[in-house]
Amino acid sequence: MGSGGDVEDMLKDEKNPPPLDEDDIALLKTYGLGPYSASIKKAEKEIKEMAKKVNDLCGIKESDTGLAAPSQWDLVSDKQMMQEEQPLQVARCTKIISPNTEDAKYMINVKQIAKFVVGLGDKVSPTDIEEGMRVGVDRNKYQIQIPLPPKIDPSVTMMTVEEKPDVTYNDVGGCKEQIEKMREVVELPMLHPEKFVKLGIDPPKGVLCYGPPGTGKTLLARAVANRTDACFIRVIGSELVQKYVGEGARMVRELFQMARSKKACIVFFDEIDAIGGARFDDGVGGDNEVQRTMLEIVNQLDGFDARGNIKVLMATNRPDTLDPALLRPGRLDRKVEFGLPDLESRAQIFKIHTRTMNCERDVRFELLARLCPNSTGADIRSVCTEAGMFAIRARRKTVTEKDFLDAVNKVIKGYQKFSATPKYMVYN
Ligand SMILES: Nc1ncnc2c1ncn2[C@@H]1O[C@H](COP(=O)(O)OP(=O)(O)OP(=O)(O)O)[C@@H](O)[C@H]1O
Ligand SMILES: [Mg+2]
Repeated sequence: MGSGGDVEDMLKDEKNPPPLDEDDIALLKTYGLGPYSASIKKAEKEIKEMAKKVNDLCGIKESDTGLAAPSQWDLVSDKQMMQEEQPLQVARCTKIISPNTEDAKYMINVKQIAKFVVGLGDKVSPTDIEEGMRVGVDRNKYQIQIPLPPKIDPSVTMMTVEEKPDVTYNDVGGCKEQIEKMREVVELPMLHPEKFVKLGIDPPKGVLCYGPPGTGKTLLARAVANRTDACFIRVIGSELVQKYVGEGARMVRELFQMARSKKACIVFFDEIDAIGGARFDDGVGGDNEVQRTMLEIVNQLDGFDARGNIKVLMATNRPDTLDPALLRPGRLDRKVEFGLPDLESRAQIFKIHTRTMNCERDVRFELLARLCPNSTGADIRSVCTEAGMFAIRARRKTVTEKDFLDAVNKVIKGYQKFSATPKYMVYN
């Protein structure tokens, strides 16, 4: 009977089994899973996330470069296309015979071959072609196939700043007035040209930034380049000094030609005193190539329409050496002085340069600023670097106020002999 009772119990158990507890559920969940399935799943998820990230980045790239993803390439049809289309030849359209009529003909000059009178290809409209333009012609009938942009020296094309510098107005300490003046000249005419038209005045064409070395002239220009959507061309004065006579002037011409072809453009000449020096007679009767380059700049400054979208910025630390012709109103109307930063600005510059440093919490930047009278932004940056060096030497991971004080002693007091600022203050 006893055994019979057991069986009955078991039957009863099967009919309404005890509820599963958590251990049981955990055990059931592992059913059919291999030893590594959890980690595999995690890895899969990570791969998915990574792929999404890569796709996101690729997406940005695609719209930037116009390149499709490799999976969408159609190499076969591309190859066929390449075979069908012949390479074109560069020619110059010298004259249009009976323009604006049905049977207009174009006189082209293929360099070192011959001159031809030709018609247009299927893909160009008569309005596209002007006299004196560079065009692409096919090799059989010499029909004009595409209009080409003017030829520009590659070394000039290289001067366009494509990658925006990572300096913003926030990285410029002090200089509030200078920033305001600069923005007024550069941004206002580009954003609201109608205001100037209404008043009937010409907006200023350009700005000259001058001041002692290390006061942030180049820095501010870089901030402007970062902020603007306009094409930014940066020229170092010495780049325009060339070996052969007339080369520098030609580069300036091509530079402005390129600038004019853009919708809006800012041209920044840094260290303009390399070419903008006052003209003088060297007593030998020879003429100076550098002066000719400068005169070409003067010429180009006069040449373009002030309401056109070219703005010229120039920077120098020796304004007294510049040629008066370059500086006269109408060419560079605005002159913005970059003076030594005042106490508040100095404290701000300290804060800017220690932003990325691992400093003690309560460093008194105002005190430090007070200890560096007559110093430039570059000096203050050097103080910050030296303070970091002191910390490294002492094998510490944070920079203390004492480090800063030592650095001030070293940089401001020790390097006073090298400081050019007092000398330059005379010129500015
Ligand atoms: N107002 C400022 N705020 C923050 N940093 C500054 C400031 N002025 C100068 N600096 C620092 O000093 C460095 C040198 O400044 P910058 O290159 O602008 O000098 P500059 O005026 O062009 O001198 P130069 O006439 O010799 O070309 C900058 O990289 C920046 O770190
Ligand atoms: Mg500079």
